[in-house]
Amino acid sequence: MKETLAYYICSMNKEIVVSGIRSTGYLHLGNYFGAIQNYVLMQENYECYFFVADYHALTTHPDPKLLKANVYRVVAENIASGLDPNKVALYAQSDIPEIPELYLMLNMLAYKGELEKVPTFKEKVRSQPDNVNAGLLTYPVLMAADILIQRAVKVPVGKDQEQHLEMARNFANRFNTRYGQEFFPEPQVFRFNQSAVKIMSLDGNGKMSKSENVNATIYLSDDDDTIRKKIMKAKTDSGPTEHNSVMPDYIQNLFLLMDLTAKPGIADTFRSQFNNCTIRFGDMKKQLAEDMVAFVRPIREHAANLQADETAIKKILKDGAEKARAGASKTIEGARKLIGINYY
Ligand code: TYM
Repeated sequence: MKETLAYYICSMNKEIVVSGIRSTGYLHLGNYFGAIQNYVLMQENYECYFFVADYHALTTHPDPKLLKANVYRVVAENIASGLDPNKVALYAQSDIPEIPELYLMLNMLAYKGELEKVPTFKEKVRSQPDNVNAGLLTYPVLMAADILIQRAVKVPVGKDQEQHLEMARNFANRFNTRYGQEFFPEPQVFRFNQSAVKIMSLDGNGKMSKSENVNATIYLSDDDDTIRKKIMKAKTDSGPTEHNSVMPDYIQNLFLLMDLTAKPGIADTFRSQFNNCTIRFGDMKKQLAEDMVAFVRPIREHAANLQADETAIKKILKDGAEKARAGASKTIEGARKLIGINYY
């Protein structure tokens, strides 16, 4: 209770931030550099709400026996990456009943045509034609509810979520227009260094993701040897034959990972070698593998220790839900009144 009070006092008058991560698998470098790194930087100066999107995970029908462990792991990996549950509200989406209530309200303002056009929905229709459920179609509405329930103005997410954010702004504006009040602010994508970090899969096929090629994805839980093996197998080629050639995107991705994890100057040395055609990708990958091992190891070890203490994680989730419900219940009360659900 003391911690919760301290949280309220520190968070007075700060801008509100919301973001979430689905509990569908192991967190990877894309989640870390695309999202969590920004969370950690924001926790000092903003009123932050970070959650495990377990309702969103239900769209792909996860095994009920695995759900709790998945949620606990996401919490542990966020904390091991530097998030401090005393500074932010860290909670499970399903612990906030106000979210599905707002989702229902917003669904009345979301149109089938616009939802069917969302690229992530179209992609799911292609990849899982046997499970095109209504939850998938209305995924952006639930995401808008997650954000608007706290009346957040800033949302740290990777590039792949930008279209969802635009829809959240549309739903917010539609609600405000229909009910005649600037009730919801427009949430904006936020990143510390402005440019979006998009981590590609190490096989060069699209973005690094929780469910695609596991051998081309580096997870925060990977052991040292697994990391080395994955990096050494990353896609490269025989190297440039002309000075200052354009870098293929899979090589750019390796340089990006090096920029993010190696000591300053190391990536530049390899960049010069690329530009004068003397680069040996085997050497570059060996260097990257060691830097990546050194980067992931403390996160993995810390997360494993945290996960071993279930009682502590339970308490973090409960405290987080209490913090998040304080604002959420006020939003729902206001939304009900504006809609006219105000009978007693
Ligand atoms: P999810 O769980 O797929 O990913 C969590 C965060 O990681 C970012 N990310 C990446 N960034 C860079 N490169 C990559 N390869 C990469 N892969 C993932 C994502 O952009 C995201 O920021 N719908 C969301 C979860 C969500 C949410 C929300 C986010 C639900 N409600 C409300 C913000 C606000 C999702 O599936 O993220």
